[in-house]
Amino acid sequence: MSFAVAGDKYDRFMGRYSRELSPRLIEFARVEPGMAVVDVGCGPGPLTERLVERVGAGSVAAADPSEPFVTAARERAPSADVRQAAAEELPWEDDSFDAALSQLVVNFMRDADAGVSEMRRVVRPDGVVAACTWSYADDMQMLRGFWDAARRLDSGAPDEGSQMRYRTVEELDELWRRVGLTEVETDHLSVETGYTDFDDLWEPFTYGVGPAGVYLAKLDSEQRDQVRTELFKGLGEPTGAFTLTATACAVRGLA
Ligand SMILES: C[S@@+](CC[C@H](N)C(=O)[O-])C[C@H]1O[C@@H](n2cnc3c(N)ncnc32)[C@H](O)[C@@H]1O
Repeated sequence: MSFAVAGDKYDRFMGRYSRELSPRLIEFARVEPGMAVVDVGCGPGPLTERLVERVGAGSVAAADPSEPFVTAARERAPSADVRQAAAEELPWEDDSFDAALSQLVVNFMRDADAGVSEMRRVVRPDGVVAACTWSYADDMQMLRGFWDAARRLDSGAPDEGSQMRYRTVEELDELWRRVGLTEVETDHLSVETGYTDFDDLWEPFTYGVGPAGVYLAKLDSEQRDQVRTELFKGLGEPTGAFTLTATACAVRGLA
């Protein structure tokens, strides 16, 4: 399981982007103070923490199947009701929330139709169901750079840019309408994150997080070094601090 890692390792890999993305998703979803909200696939809680700030303590719930992430999310958002559960079987009654949000998760759900239907079920009629996923193909520089490097060395390497599901606003729009959500709207949310140097980017790839980390873990140390060198070259051989950008596809609908 590629998300059975400590929360701080996830933070250095993807959490640094999630922290920037969370306020953008909250704004896009139009989450207002006082609303009861659930964060589906919360990971170690970057969005959960922001939701607590936005709607107030006691109004936020969250779920994730990964045990270490649930532990981290409970530590970071102690007032939130964090459960270990998958989107496809949310442990809450019908109509429990005003909004259900899911950040960078729909593409990892075992059954996205079932997962988003569950988000719809736990939200009251006319409540908000919103999510975002990376626009993997071109606009997520970190993963684009990694898979380009891997595929220059191994043409059989997977490529999240062409293989990941739900990586366009069109696919998300279709999914939202298919599960019966109404007034569906989509947008792109762009963020950037800074790295102190190339190792600040490279080391988290070796933690085994997500598809890139899992792929790298299967290589021997010589092959890993080759990917590192290719990624370094592909990013223009940065010598000091640098910044990478990422764009997410966002979707919002009403239950
Ligand atoms: C890329 S992380 C995103 C975490 C967090 N939402 C964020 O913004 O950083 C993907 C998350 O989806 C979770 N996940 C995987 N399958 C899931 C499922 N079927 N239902 C809910 N969450 C799932 C993983 O455990 C992981 O925490």
